[in-house]
Amino acid sequence: MKFDSPAGENLFDRATVIGQPIHRIDGPLKVTGHAPYAYERHAVVEGQVYGYPVGAGIAKGRILAIDTTAAEAAPGVLGIVTTLEHDPIEGVFDYDPVRHFGGDEVLHYHQAIAVVVAETFEQARAAANRLGIEYERDDSAAFDLAATPEAAGETDTAPAQTVGDFESAFASAAVTLDETYTTPAESHAMMEPHATIAAWDGDSVTLWTSNQMIAWGRGSIAKAFDVPAENVRLDSPYIGGGFGVKLFVRSDAIMAGLAARKVGRPVKVALPRPMIANNTTHRGETIQRIRIGADADGRITAIGHHNATNALTTAGGENSTLPTVAFYAAANRLVVNDPARMDLPNSNAMRAPGETAGLMAFEVAMDEMAEKLGMDPVELRILNDTQVDPGNPDIPFSDRHYVECLNRGAEAFGWSSRNSAPGATRDGVWLIGHGVAGAYRPAPVLASGARVVLTPDGRLRIESDMTDIGTGSYTVMAQTAAEVMGLSVADVSIGLGDSDFPVSAGSGGQWGAASATAGVYAACVALRQAIAERLDMAEGDLTFENGMVRTGNTSVPLGEVGGGTDLVGEDAIEFGAFRSQEVLVATFGAHFVEVGVHAHTGEIRVRRMLAVCDAGRILNPMTARSQVIGAMTMGVGAAIMEEMAVDHRYGFFVNHDLAGYEVPVHFDIPSQDVIFLETADAYSTPLKAKGVGELGLCGVSAAVANAITNATGVRVRNYPVTLDKLLSGLPAA
Ligand code: MOS
Repeated sequence: MKFDSPAGENLFDRATVIGQPIHRIDGPLKVTGHAPYAYERHAVVEGQVYGYPVGAGIAKGRILAIDTTAAEAAPGVLGIVTTLEHDPIEGVFDYDPVRHFGGDEVLHYHQAIAVVVAETFEQARAAANRLGIEYERDDSAAFDLAATPEAAGETDTAPAQTVGDFESAFASAAVTLDETYTTPAESHAMMEPHATIAAWDGDSVTLWTSNQMIAWGRGSIAKAFDVPAENVRLDSPYIGGGFGVKLFVRSDAIMAGLAARKVGRPVKVALPRPMIANNTTHRGETIQRIRIGADADGRITAIGHHNATNALTTAGGENSTLPTVAFYAAANRLVVNDPARMDLPNSNAMRAPGETAGLMAFEVAMDEMAEKLGMDPVELRILNDTQVDPGNPDIPFSDRHYVECLNRGAEAFGWSSRNSAPGATRDGVWLIGHGVAGAYRPAPVLASGARVVLTPDGRLRIESDMTDIGTGSYTVMAQTAAEVMGLSVADVSIGLGDSDFPVSAGSGGQWGAASATAGVYAACVALRQAIAERLDMAEGDLTFENGMVRTGNTSVPLGEVGGGTDLVGEDAIEFGAFRSQEVLVATFGAHFVEVGVHAHTGEIRVRRMLAVCDAGRILNPMTARSQVIGAMTMGVGAAIMEEMAVDHRYGFFVNHDLAGYEVPVHFDIPSQDVIFLETADAYSTPLKAKGVGELGLCGVSAAVANAITNATGVRVRNYPVTLDKLLSGLPAA
């Protein structure tokens, strides 16, 4: 099905199943432990043995030798694969240009260099400790972003956006801000570690793994092992979080596959938690110089944003300028993204990549501008809204209700009773503050396919390689099929995450739910056509409801149409260029936060959070709300807790486990609420839906930081806002 013009009025405008707050259909399996993660899939293949991975102990240099003698002699050991016996396996996916395994060159700390296979996990781990590894360290490595020419703004990197004449507009503006903000490297810290069980059958390999993008992963594995893609099966039905670190196959899959081929047994490999931070990817750190100029009434005339970030190649990093080019009006703009090549582990996508770090800084800068202007920060944002692409005024937003998000939120949160004087509100020993920030993120989509099978018992089965990373894909896809076929969700079963099924959009970039439900719609329309052919009718003359297909006065139970055989519909949604050429399709939000800061110790408590989201039709308000609340919690982590500390001598993240890298949980925040605007974006998909999973994170951390400033009068520009940065500036107690 081609989606090559905006959706007209359609069945989703009269929806009875889509839009309902239905519990996740995989929920009972998840909470009772019956949705196994990759490492727990003991039953899928017999004779599984354990591979224990080894990461490099240097950040840059060469491996001169690996002595395996002692390890091979250890009890239970079945085989060892070392990096020295393999050609480098790298660049298996364009967006992920890292070396997963192979060769003697070490490009980053904890790069995978060996896997030891034994009958038990303990035997494999013990033997791994007996490897004798000889390194030659290269001391020329770069680990300090602040020391790079990119951080100093000394490169001549081409701007991402130039509009008007920024420098002169900024120089002549009545009110200006010129500040530098830093955000640290962050870890995805998803619950389920990377894990894979690999089994070979001749030249074919199956990987039971944990991966967000099955078709990408299949292609990567085929390339890594030099076999045709049809010889590769990936299966990843339940995923304990991804946040971007599972967009691409990681070293667990490569090592499991290599080890299984060498020892001739199915091999399972999980990355131990302390290896994940340095072996895999992370959100890159940023140093952002933001300049804003406005007239005396608060109308912004100039926006400048320079972002320094880092990755193993200059193709990556955290591009914090992504939202800056389109969020607010301003006739003069200069936006530069400047990634430095450094020798730390590679940075790559982590939930709302770009926007998270970018809006952390920019929405604090907006708060500072409001302060300078003596304006309410909600009013400043409303005044500078835009309905068109500020870089190209001929391109309108397809559907943008940012101002309504701010107004609805201000009202529901009680913003008008906020004390705008910083450090002046107390509740016992707590300094109380309120902060606001805006949220902006594009609403991308990807082609997405599905197969639906109607069985003679009147039930429908959906098959797609779409993944559910904890987001609710199972549920919203089942709701879509139920809606289109006139069934109830209980009549629909669904299998996901298997590369034997039709290729979907996968989960990432908040494109998953919007794309995959459109794919299910396409497949269901194909099934409806197959049903119409069977009945020798035109599809448009049929009504599907209550498990029946009806025309005129005649009703037939759906299950009977096939005459005892299955009926199948298979198709994919393909999105036309109009969607990106004629309009900007994006999502918007406003976050309101109340914090308490301990007047003596500076301890920060987030007391109350509210998000208002404009993301088109909400497919399921319960799963969408869960996504946004989870994102808000993640944003609190980024605001006040999360930072991977870089050892600038040896080039690794020091706090690489969950003891040293702390994340908040829902229980830390007593009150969180979400309001969804009732909007529908006809340019987005046939369902008029857009993603919310990443929108929910955009701007949250700035709202927390702005609330802390309101509570204390202290402005912190280097994240996270930890209490040591507040102490010296707290009001006299
Ligand atoms: Mo998302 S960072 O594309 O999983």
